[in-house]
Amino acid sequence: MKFFLDTADIDEISEAASWGALAGVTTNPTLYARVGGKLADFNDHIKRICDIVGPDCPVSAESLAMTRDDLVRDGRELAAIAPNVVVKIPTMVEGLAATRTLADEGIRVNMTLCFTVPQALLAARAGARYISPFVGRFDDISEDGIEQVANIVDAVGNYDFSQNTANGEQVEVIAASIRSANHVTQCALMGADIATVPFGVLKKMVGHPLTDRGIEAFVADWEKVK
Ligand code: G3P
Repeated sequence: MKFFLDTADIDEISEAASWGALAGVTTNPTLYARVGGKLADFNDHIKRICDIVGPDCPVSAESLAMTRDDLVRDGRELAAIAPNVVVKIPTMVEGLAATRTLADEGIRVNMTLCFTVPQALLAARAGARYISPFVGRFDDISEDGIEQVANIVDAVGNYDFSQNTANGEQVEVIAASIRSANHVTQCALMGADIATVPFGVLKKMVGHPLTDRGIEAFVADWEKVK
C-alpha cells in the first residue's frame, strides 16, 4: 500500500516528505480553504507542493467546474502546472465525459467523491487513473465505510482497465476520507492500492505505546552498558 498525504498544508507536506515514506499528495477545495488559500494563488500553491514532493509523487488538484468543457479546460490548465499533477474530478456525468477526454490526451485523472461500485466501474471505464472512495463519510451516515470501500476494491480488481487510462497505466483505488490508523489497517487488509491520510493520522500511524516504552528501556539499559 502506498501512502498519500491528504492536505494542502505546505508545512505538513514538507515534514511528511522528509520521513521518506510519502508517495503522493491529495488536495481538495476544503483543504485549500483550510490553509487560507485564495483562488488566484491556487496554481502556484500546487506548483509548490509538486516541487516539494518531487516528480515521482502524484499531486491531485481538483476542478469544481460543472460542465464537461470547463472541466476539460481546467484539467488541461492544472496538468500544465507540473508533470506529476493529477486532475481531481467529482464523479458525475460531466466528470466522466471530461475524464474520457483528458485521459485520451494522456492527462491523469483522480475521480473523487466515489461511493458505489457502479460509480467506480464507470470512472475506471471512462479512463480515471485513480478512483477515490470515501471511508469516513460513509461512517458519518451510519454505513460501514470499510465494507463499502472493500466492495469497490474487489470490483475494480476483477477487471483490467489499463486500456482505458491515460498512457495505459493500471487504475488504482485510493481509500480516502481516512479518519484513523485503524482505517489504514482495514484498507491495507482489503487490498486498497493507496490510502490518503491527514497528517494527524500519519503521525498516529508511526507510534505505539509499546514502541515508546521499548525505546525508553533500551536507552536506559544502554546507559548502564556505557
Ligand atoms: O480528499 C478527500 C477526502 O479524503 C476527504 O476526507 O475527512 O473530509 O471526509 P474527509
